[in-house]
Amino acid sequence: MSLHIGDIAPNFTIDTTKGEIDFHQWSQGSWVFFFSHPADFTPVCTTEMGRTSQLATDFSDRNVKPLGLSTDTVAEHLTWISDVNDTQNTDLQFPIVADADLKVSRLYDMIHPDESATEAVRSVFIIDPNHKIRLTMTYPMNVGRNFDEILRVVDALQLGDKEKIATPADWRPGDQVIIPPSIDNQQAAQIFPQGWDEVRSYLRLTKVG
Ligand code: BEZ
Repeated sequence: MSLHIGDIAPNFTIDTTKGEIDFHQWSQGSWVFFFSHPADFTPVCTTEMGRTSQLATDFSDRNVKPLGLSTDTVAEHLTWISDVNDTQNTDLQFPIVADADLKVSRLYDMIHPDESATEAVRSVFIIDPNHKIRLTMTYPMNVGRNFDEILRVVDALQLGDKEKIATPADWRPGDQVIIPPSIDNQQAAQIFPQGWDEVRSYLRLTKVG
């Protein structure tokens, strides 16, 4: 199944390292960083799980719950988590889905047959508190993800929701933001009383927050 930005993230019930979860119930009221990885006891995945765990406070400060997934079993995940904790100097607490029968991997199109018929690629879904998919990214098996970017897009999405703005290339919190073209100058004067720099009529930069 191919999922798009704006779709409701499909619900599922599945075993995880923290017990069985109903995805929509578990994520109620929170943003979710749902990410798949190919396999337990593999090097890139070990660093990614470690990094996610090290960033636990950064995720919770943003009301984001991480949820990992691979097509291994709960028993395998639990043994591997000890290795992740040892090697990455962390204490991994977020749940990892055990999708040994590929039920969720198929539902979220995480199996890309040219990479593997049985292991998930590195998919990312950022899902909002209304269960809506807000961002998708797909990485191949041999490239670890950039977790600064995961946090940055969450910041951009949350600021965009709050302030009706868009964010420019390489935006970082505190940088100028973009007034979307859907807001004309008359409306912009109401919404952004602080004013803006008009680089072009379609490129207006302002500061918020
Ligand atoms: C890794 O995590 O290192 C890995 C897993 C599957 C394929 C390639 C790399």
